[in-house]
Amino acid sequence: MTDHTYTSLHTMGQQLDRRSWAEPYKIKAVEPLHMTTRAQRDAAMVAAGYNTFLLPSRDVYIDLLTDSGTNAMSDRQWAGMMLGDEAYAGSENFYHLEQTVAECYGYKHLVPTHQGRGAENILSQALISEGDHVPGNMYFTTTRLHQERAGATFHDVIVDAAHDTSSLDGFKGNVDLAKLQALIDEVGADKIPYVCVAATVNMAGGQPISMANVKAVRELTATYGIPIYLDATRAMENAMFIQEREEGYRDKPIAEILLEFCSYSDGATMSGKKDPLVNIGGWLSTNDPEVFEAARNMVVVYEGLHTYGGMAGRDMEAMAIGIREALSDDYMRSRIGQVRYLGSLLDQWGVPFVKPVGGHGIFLDARAFYPQLTQEQFPAQTLAAELYLDSGIRAMERGIVSAGRDALTGENHHPRLELTRLTIPRRVYTQAHMDVVAESVKACFETRESVRGLRMVYEPQYLRFFQARFERL
Ligand code: F0G
Repeated sequence: MTDHTYTSLHTMGQQLDRRSWAEPYKIKAVEPLHMTTRAQRDAAMVAAGYNTFLLPSRDVYIDLLTDSGTNAMSDRQWAGMMLGDEAYAGSENFYHLEQTVAECYGYKHLVPTHQGRGAENILSQALISEGDHVPGNMYFTTTRLHQERAGATFHDVIVDAAHDTSSLDGFKGNVDLAKLQALIDEVGADKIPYVCVAATVNMAGGQPISMANVKAVRELTATYGIPIYLDATRAMENAMFIQEREEGYRDKPIAEILLEFCSYSDGATMSGKKDPLVNIGGWLSTNDPEVFEAARNMVVVYEGLHTYGGMAGRDMEAMAIGIREALSDDYMRSRIGQVRYLGSLLDQWGVPFVKPVGGHGIFLDARAFYPQLTQEQFPAQTLAAELYLDSGIRAMERGIVSAGRDALTGENHHPRLELTRLTIPRRVYTQAHMDVVAESVKACFETRESVRGLRMVYEPQYLRFFQARFERL
C-alpha cells in the first residue's frame, strides 16, 4: 500500500506515456510582478517585523505565502462571474453550488460560508460541548482554535511518520487507529462529538491519507456512534495521491475517488480558496439533518443568509465551475507535477525538505538548515525572512510560531516539525518561476551557517503567526 514513495517527475511522465508534462491550459491575461532591490527588501523586512504576513504584496516578487485564495481562475470562471445572481435570498448560483457539491462530494446539505474558518466556527459550535475532546490527524491553526473556543481539547492522532521529515511513507496523513482507540478508551465516546479528518494534511506538509485508512476510521468510530467530519479543503489533491499510490485506484478518475472518500464521512468543512480554484468562499456540508438545522440557524448570525453565507452570487458561481475544473485528472497531474518539479531541483542540491513531496507546496526543514538555532530562536521564521531578503520570494512559517500556546497552560507548543512552506498557488506561476525559487533557496542553503535567529517582540492573542513581530538576535 505504501510502496510508492517519492515519485520523480520522470515517473509521472511515463505514467502519462509522454516525455514531459505541461500545463493543460494556456495564458490569456497576465499580471506584472514587482522587482525590488536588496536595500528595499532590507527595509521592508524590518518594517514588517520579520513576519512575511506583514509585507505589502507590492514588495513581493514571487508570492508563495499560501495557496489560499491565490489561484488563477479560468475564462469559464470569469464568464461565470457575469452570471452572478446577487439576490439576497435564493440566488441561482447557490443552487448551482449546492448541486455541484452534492454531485462531486456526495453531501446532502450545504451551508455556504465566507471561507473555511466560518464553517469551522459553525461546526464547532453546533457539535462541541464544554469538556469535549476532538481527535484529528494533526492540528490546523484555525480549526483547532475554533474547537478550543467551543470548549474542546484537541488530540493529535496522526501516525508518527507524519512528524518525521525523512520518512518516505506514502500516506503520512493517516490516522493512527491505536491512538484513536486509546483516546476513546480514556475519555469515553460520549465526550467525542466527532473525529476531524483532514485530507491532505497541511501542517504535515500536504501529506495524503489513504482510502483504506479513512475506511478503517469509519469502521472504528461507527461502533461507538462517533461521526466523522472531513476537512475537505484539499481532498481532491488527496484523491490524486490515492490514484497514484493505493492498490485498486490506478484506473479510477479522481472524481470517483473523491466521492468514495467522502462517503466515509458525515460531512465536511471546506475552504473553497484551495482545491476549487477561486479566490474566496467556503462551506459546511453534512448528511445529518439535525446538524444542518443547527448550522442553518447559526449561519445567519455569523456569515449571512443560508443561501449566500458571506459569498456574493458570482463567487458561488465561480466556485461551482472551479470544482468541476479541478476534478480533471490532467489538471491535477500538472498541479502536483509543478510542486514536484520544484522538489526535484532542491533535492539534487541536497536541500532538506519534507518527503515525499506533498500536494500544495515544498516544506523546507528549517531545523536541518539551522542546527545552530534553538526552536525558541524561530528557525522557520528566520528562513522565511532570509529567503525574502535574498530574492523577494515570500514563504510562510509552519513551526513553533504557528503552533501557538497550549490553551490551558499557556506554554508554547513545541511541534517536532519546524518548517518553512513554499506554497504553490494554482495555475499562477510557470516552470521558470520555479527555477528562480529553487535557486534562491539554494543560495540561502549555502549561507546557512552564518545565520542567527529571531526573538519575538509582539505576540497577538489569537493565531499569533499572522501578526507577530520579531527582531534579529
Ligand atoms: N483547513 C485547512 C487544511 C487549511 O489549510 C485552511 C487554510 C483552513 C482550513 C481554513 O480555511 O483560510 O478559508 O478560513 N489554510 C490557509 C493556508 C490559510 O495558508 O494554509 P480559510
